[in-house]
Amino acid sequence: MVRRRQIYEGKAKILYEGPEPGTIIQYFKDDATAFNAQKKGTINGKGVLNNRISEHVFTMLGNIGVPTHFIRRLNMREQLVRQVEIVPIEVVIRNVAAGSLSTRLGIEEGTPLPRTLIEYYYKDDALGDPMITEEHIACFGWASQEEMHDIADMAIRVNDFMSGLFAGIGIRLVDFKLEFGRLWENDFSRIILADEISPDGCRLWDAVTGEKLDKDRFRRDLGGEVEAYQEVARRLGLLQDEGGEPTVLDLDSARKKRDGEKA
Ligand code: TMP
Repeated sequence: MVRRRQIYEGKAKILYEGPEPGTIIQYFKDDATAFNAQKKGTINGKGVLNNRISEHVFTMLGNIGVPTHFIRRLNMREQLVRQVEIVPIEVVIRNVAAGSLSTRLGIEEGTPLPRTLIEYYYKDDALGDPMITEEHIACFGWASQEEMHDIADMAIRVNDFMSGLFAGIGIRLVDFKLEFGRLWENDFSRIILADEISPDGCRLWDAVTGEKLDKDRFRRDLGGEVEAYQEVARRLGLLQDEGGEPTVLDLDSARKKRDGEKA
């Protein structure tokens, strides 16, 4: 019996048709790739962790009013999301020099940037996701001026929120990649945040030691990928049953404890 139809298989996720029209199921794989899939591997349990981390971040972004495709997590590896038309642009937001910025411009990794940088890459694996400017986006019609305005606005808002979120758990948000989609309602579309936010597409450095807690461990053969992703999830308060310190102030339990009730 065919349970559902596969729509697309990417490098780290599979998309299936959702239960209702306009919905999609995102399945998170353990597969890891780098350098445009020239390097391939598996990070055991990565899909489960990314599903949880992305759920958490998207939920919190939704709570502050950022429109996202996230509906709900379905199980360990799957989440239900709104079907969107993906804008073929990878939006990279940088707070600290690292990776390709450091290589391209010769800026030492770890140098704080005087202002947040937004870069755009054309989403095309065959071309190796080349860097583009807003001029290219307008010239080839990949997104309208209005859409680009919304995208840049949301990117900054997400960056401000995530920088604070991670700073609060002792993590420096160095840079990250976002993808956006068009949500169609009748003849109109609006831009919403899509894809995922996880250590696969972020550079996350321990604020004290500078230890890398992201996919650079895989890209650079540093080892300890699973432990790094787990540490991010633990600090976000998502693995409390595994002995992590709760990072969320639970005032309700505190009040009950004070009042002598069972929390
Ligand atoms: P970069 O320094 O290699 O350009 O990467 C910048 C950020 O974007 C980094 O946090 C990793 C993320 N990224 C992706 O999510 N997918 C990609 O294909 C690339 C190249 C980078």
